Amino acid sequence: MDHAFSFLFLSLYFSSLLHPTVARGGEQRSKPSDYIDKVYSGSVRQLFEENQSETRLDIARGYMTNSDLEKAVKAFGRRCSNISRIYSIGKSVKGVPLWVMEISDRPGEEEAEPAFKFIGNVHGDEPVGRELLLLLANWLCDNYMRDPLATLIIENVHLHILPSMNPDGFSLRRRGNANNIDLNRDFPDQFFPLNDDVGMRQPETRAIMRWLKEIRFTASASLHGGALVANYPWDGTLDKRKDYYACPDDETFRFMASVYSRSHNNMSLSKEFPGGITNGAFWYPIYGGMQDWNYIHGGCFELTLEISDNKWPNANELPTLWEFNKMSMLNLVASLVKTGVHGKIFSSDCGRPLPASIAIKGINYTVEAGSAFADYHRLLAPGEKYEVMATLPGYKSKTTCISLEEKAMTLDFVLDPEVRPKGNLLQSVCDCSCDGKSKHELVEFFGRTYLEIFLVLIVILAFLCFLLKRRVLFNHLKHRQSVGPKRSGVV
Ligand SMILES: *[C@@H]1O[C@H](CO)[C@@H](O)[C@H](O)[C@H]1NC(C)=O
Ligand SMILES: *[C@@H]1O[C@H](CO)[C@@H](O)[C@H](O)[C@H]1NC(C)=O
Ligand SMILES: *[C@@H]1O[C@H](CO)[C@@H](O)[C@H](O)[C@H]1NC(C)=O
Ligand SMILES: *[C@@H]1O[C@H](CO)[C@@H](O)[C@H](O)[C@H]1NC(C)=O
Ligand SMILES: [Zn+2]
Repeated sequence: MDHAFSFLFLSLYFSSLLHPTVARGGEQRSKPSDYIDKVYSGSVRQLFEENQSETRLDIARGYMTNSDLEKAVKAFGRRCSNISRIYSIGKSVKGVPLWVMEISDRPGEEEAEPAFKFIGNVHGDEPVGRELLLLLANWLCDNYMRDPLATLIIENVHLHILPSMNPDGFSLRRRGNANNIDLNRDFPDQFFPLNDDVGMRQPETRAIMRWLKEIRFTASASLHGGALVANYPWDGTLDKRKDYYACPDDETFRFMASVYSRSHNNMSLSKEFPGGITNGAFWYPIYGGMQDWNYIHGGCFELTLEISDNKWPNANELPTLWEFNKMSMLNLVASLVKTGVHGKIFSSDCGRPLPASIAIKGINYTVEAGSAFADYHRLLAPGEKYEVMATLPGYKSKTTCISLEEKAMTLDFVLDPEVRPKGNLLQSVCDCSCDGKSKHELVEFFGRTYLEIFLVLIVILAFLCFLLKRRVLFNHLKHRQSVGPKRSGVV
């Protein structure tokens, strides 16, 4: 009976090890023989709970501790203070701040530029990412104004780097956080309402969710270990079966994942994953993952990058891993300005920026323009024709056809207000003044039937509007042209 029981326990344990859904972070590939040796050598439970940190102490040698990491982030912030800003998006269960380095020539300022985020160490026992992200930040700082790619990124992107999303898991040398929750299963799921009570979510998860409300990220990537592949949405399937499950932007994601794998030393040579990329659900479905949530709720195209077969390689392999991933990381971030369709949306009546939505015919997904500058950044697979549509309630939608090449394209929209019911001439003229107060005054004026003066005012306002609109568009085009050799147009 006793034997039957332990046999059952062991086989359950093994099946959980071998079952693919354990990872996204590839637990099943992380040297299972190691675990198997330990399992056979004695009581499983005791070994894992008591001797775990002792065994793993050696593993962490040469890696930054959490306090080393904090020091490194702050030292970076001091050394590169005019191209960076250090901030925290919250705290872990144990109260460790989740530090972020923002890198940009105007950190902390809103600009008409795309934002990208890197997140490392989602799983506590996958620490390569947090090391590489510090190297990336420092490399960018050292090469600003020296290397064209570094300069391009710093001047045209706001890059936010969170080296460790799970510092508690790191210090416990395990996958989950301090409550032993897998953070890459803790997000709201599109198919299954997993712990849909926001209050029940882990503080690390909540911090990421808040972050996405504050910053409009165009794309992002989280760094994992246990395999070598660039993984893209969807991560889950409706019927829970392992199958290719394409999201509306499948083509775009395949392109982005390939930017990473092709720039990598040997990711694209993978025998297991053609081209070094994979659809998440095709590999193995997961639910409550961060990647799908970013795409659905954050307007952010996120990849899950598995950057080393070994989750916790010897620290002396870190320089090689950095060399292998460096161009991939840089090219992925730079793809936000080097590819896709970008532009701004203006109203035709005064040229003011409109926070409209951009949709592509045949792709059930919209990208929102920013509220301050009405800039939009629509990543798309190159080499195809697209019908781009800008819409905003109260304005007539506009559609235009483009043929997107490898290079990025600039496409601005000027939208006309919807025609209002007749007899409302007054209102459309007043809108033109771009000033709610003067509108009110004009109404009073009109009420007193100073019709002639009013008509003169209309003419003056219309003329001013015309001048303003021309100027805004002209300045804008001038600015765009100075950015680079992009193709551009106004529709
Ligand atoms: C756990 O580690 C201690 C030393 O810290 C050792 O004495 C003990 O034998 C180990 N237990 C197992 C099951 O290996
Ligand atoms: C940062 O500072 C250096 C030297 O102080 C200066 O050359 C550089 O232009 C500055 N960069 C920005 C983006 O302000
Ligand atoms: C990539 O290179 C690393 C280090 O040399 C090696 O361990 C790994 O097996 C290689 N992977 C592929 C897919 O070639
Ligand atoms: C488009 O996507 C939304 C979810 O974002 C879904 O509710 C809707 O049914 C989809 N429309 C089509 C035509 O597939
Ligand atoms: Zn992972």
